[in-house]
Amino acid sequence: MTELTIALTKGRILKETLPLLAQAGITPLEDIDASRKLVFETSRDGVRLLILRGSDVPTYVQHGAADLGVSGKDTLMEHGGDGLYEPLDLGIARCRLMTAAITGSPPSTGRIRVATKYVNVARRYYAEQGRQADMIKLYGAMELAPVMGLADEIVDIVDTGNTLKANGLESRETIADISSRVIVNRIAMKTKHQLIQPLLTQLGNAVSNPGAGG
Ligand code: PRP
Repeated sequence: MTELTIALTKGRILKETLPLLAQAGITPLEDIDASRKLVFETSRDGVRLLILRGSDVPTYVQHGAADLGVSGKDTLMEHGGDGLYEPLDLGIARCRLMTAAITGSPPSTGRIRVATKYVNVARRYYAEQGRQADMIKLYGAMELAPVMGLADEIVDIVDTGNTLKANGLESRETIADISSRVIVNRIAMKTKHQLIQPLLTQLGNAVSNPGAGG
C-alpha cells in the first residue's frame, strides 16, 4: 500500500535530490532517466516517486495527490503557497531569478513589455519598483523575445549567464535567489506526521552533511 507519494521533476532537481533521498534510505527501483514511466516504486516499502513537469509539482502537492515534493523557489513564488508548507531548503539547483535586456541597451523607461513564464512574480516585482509593465506569457526560449522585438525585458532564471550571453542579453536586476525546497501538503503534514517528520529530519541531515552514507 502506498503510504507516501513524493513529487519530483526531471533534470537538475531530480539529479540533486536523488542523493539526498538515498541518504534517507529512499532509492528508486529503476533508473528514472532511462524510463518513460511517471511513477516509480522505491527501496522503501510504501514510498513512491512521481515524475512531473516542474510547474505541476506544487499543484499535485497542494491538492494532496502527492504528499510532498521538491520544487524550485521560482516555481513556488509563481504558484503561490496555498495548501502547502515549505519546511526545508535543500540548497540545491541554485540560481537567480533576474530581469535581463539586450546588452548595452539603455535602461527602459515608461511602459515596457516583459516576456516571461513567471508572469505573477514579474507583475509583482515591476509593481513594487513602481514601473509600468505589460506581461507577455511565454513557455520557454524567453531570451529570444527582446532580440525579436517581442519584449523590452525578460524575467528568467540565470545560472552561469551563458544562455543570456549567447543571445546578446545581459542580466539587470536580481528578483530572488533561488534554490529547491521541500513542500508538504498541509493536511498530510498532520495526518502523516509520523512518516513525514522523520523524513524531513533525515533530509535535513543529508543537506547539512552531504555525502554521508544513508
Ligand atoms: C534555464 C533558463 C535559462 C537557462 C539559464 O533553462 O530558462 O534558459 O536555464 O542557465 P544559464 O544561465 O546557466 O545559461 P532550463 O535549461 O532550466 O530549461 P527551461 O527553459 O525549461 O527552464
